[in-house]
Amino acid sequence: TLQNVSFSIGKGEMVSIVGRNGAGKSTLSKLICGFETQDSGEIYLNGKDLKDENIRRRAKHIGYVMQNPNQMISKTMIYDEVAMALQGSGLTEEQIREKVEDTLKVCGLYPFRNWPVSALSFGQKKRVTIASVLVQDPELILLDEPTAGQDFRHYTDIMEFLQGLNTRGVTVVMITHDMHLMLEYTPRALVFCDGQLIADRSASAVLCDPELIERAALKETSLYTLANRCGIAPAEDFVERFIAADREVRAHGC
Ligand SMILES: Nc1ncnc2c1ncn2[C@@H]1O[C@H](COP(=O)(O)OP(=O)(O)O)[C@@H](O)[C@H]1O
Ligand SMILES: [Mg+2]
Repeated sequence: TLQNVSFSIGKGEMVSIVGRNGAGKSTLSKLICGFETQDSGEIYLNGKDLKDENIRRRAKHIGYVMQNPNQMISKTMIYDEVAMALQGSGLTEEQIREKVEDTLKVCGLYPFRNWPVSALSFGQKKRVTIASVLVQDPELILLDEPTAGQDFRHYTDIMEFLQGLNTRGVTVVMITHDMHLMLEYTPRALVFCDGQLIADRSASAVLCDPELIERAALKETSLYTLANRCGIAPAEDFVERFIAADREVRAHGC
């Protein structure tokens, strides 16, 4: 499925993985977290070959958040769902409680800790699955379509939240079809096509390359179209400046 794919991601980066359906994005993330095994090639984490680390051991370092939270949740109560990963870890009940409560606070779910999962919205459930991953203190968090099917408020909540985690040093890698999300939140993008890595560059450089957009079946950003219509060159600088200004405006709430 994947061929000649080679790249490295530095600690503390926030990276998008993009490309059309069937390009190999999910396969790549499953290989990294150990859900699938590769016949050849190597994957290293902190210089250590992952081949002898099973899913459970990898999960201590690598958190994987599936696209659909309903496929990941197995407990009725929110607290139990998040605590589950720590059962049998050697921590006392008290230590587990403290860790789970801290994580629920980070995820904005503490007030709901004694609620059933079923009472939550899709976006909140997504945060429960992120909390279940975070409670294990991963160094790397991989998310498959973190904002798919969400309204703008939940989209913003989740992305601001992931950005906060990233600021605290967690490496974030997300698969997305949303070009605006890629542009706004991840400085770097890996573009996949037919099982190959065809580009590894800044998000704005990806979106200002019509050939690449066509080959990978990405959606051209309207900012690039605007730059071209108005004859602004280089378009890439315009797109970057626009996004930076937009971020500034939103940060100050006006
Ligand atoms: N378990 C599997 N066994 C064999 N082929 C698979 C398996 N999972 C996915 N594929 C194939 O691998 C390719 C990449 O799929 P996938 O990684 O799901 O792509 P994406 O997530 O980019 O849409 C597709 O052609 C798909 O049909
Ligand atoms: Mg996929």
